[in-house]
Amino acid sequence: MEELSAVDSEAVIATRGLTKRFRGGQLAVDGLELRVPAGSVFGFLGPNGSGKTTTIRMLLGLIEPTSGTATLLGRPMPGAARSVLPQVGALIEGPALYGFLSGRDNLIRYDSADPAADPRTRRARVEAALDRVGLTAAGSKKAKAYSLGMKQRLGLASALLQPRKLLVLDEPTNGLDPQGMREIRSLVRELAADGTTVFLSSHLLDEIEQVCTHAAVMARGRLVVQGPVAELAADARGRLAVTTPDPADAARVLKELGVTDLTVTEARVTGELPQGDVDLADLNAALVRADVRVRSFGVERASLEDAFVALTGEGFDVAG
Ligand SMILES: Nc1ncnc2c1ncn2[C@@H]1O[C@H](COP(=O)(O)OP(=O)(O)OP(=O)(O)O)[C@@H](O)[C@H]1O
Ligand SMILES: [Mg+2]
Repeated sequence: MEELSAVDSEAVIATRGLTKRFRGGQLAVDGLELRVPAGSVFGFLGPNGSGKTTTIRMLLGLIEPTSGTATLLGRPMPGAARSVLPQVGALIEGPALYGFLSGRDNLIRYDSADPAADPRTRRARVEAALDRVGLTAAGSKKAKAYSLGMKQRLGLASALLQPRKLLVLDEPTNGLDPQGMREIRSLVRELAADGTTVFLSSHLLDEIEQVCTHAAVMARGRLVVQGPVAELAADARGRLAVTTPDPADAARVLKELGVTDLTVTEARVTGELPQGDVDLADLNAALVRADVRVRSFGVERASLEDAFVALTGEGFDVAG
């Protein structure tokens, strides 16, 4: 296994050309180059079927890549799984639970399977984990009687029994109600503040924007873009929007100044700003010089969703 380059020394997850082709020919993950910086809350975003879970399974050594490599905490996977995985908490689609055991007993069982876990402090660890995910009251209930959201919380609790350097969470808010989603988001923020790097997948753009410092966008098995969330959103250039009683004149002036893709309605003109450095003040001054009366003038903030649409040229729908 080749050494990581200096650039990657701070990467908690790094992949090179990571590819998975399933038997039957489905190319689920295609040449993935992922880099997750230490200390980030990293959102792994993509519509259903875009390859998120398949990637996570490869990262955790649960399935073999067809080609390419992955490192976790600087060590190659799946080769270094035995030394790396104890430092990684994971929640993957459909956490494996014993339905006939209570939530609490599931955690006790899970903790007992960890040779590094001190049996004398087991109870305290389990109670703390139940508490962190809001399951204390339901801890004695049999897991088969749990709702989807409760199962998801229990899966999360099992990932939190030990302090971890890295948490890998596949759709952690799947099945949770809005209040539950908020709780998981604030838990993720707490964990990040404690220094844990959190890698979480989601198909909800909004969720990623709210909790993540960095994100990668997947579409049809390919990485479309990755980087700090603020930069991704900024990359989708905002649209200029002018409210005016003189929309036709405004559109003419803006067009002369290089604004493209103009849409003109009764009292509003929007368009794409020209490439390169544009001073909005100059555009505004030009409108005024041309006797265009301006009621409001500004650039509408681009969201990550705009960025996604701009990058992939499509909406956030399931690929066929
Ligand atoms: N075991 C498998 N055998 C064959 N194809 C598979 C297998 N697992 C996944 N796939 C296919 O690989 C593609 C990626 O699936 P994956 O589960 O990684 O997507 P995902 O991004 O996690 O989607 P979701 O948001 O629905 O969880 C899909 O087209 C899926 O049908
Ligand atoms: Mg998935």
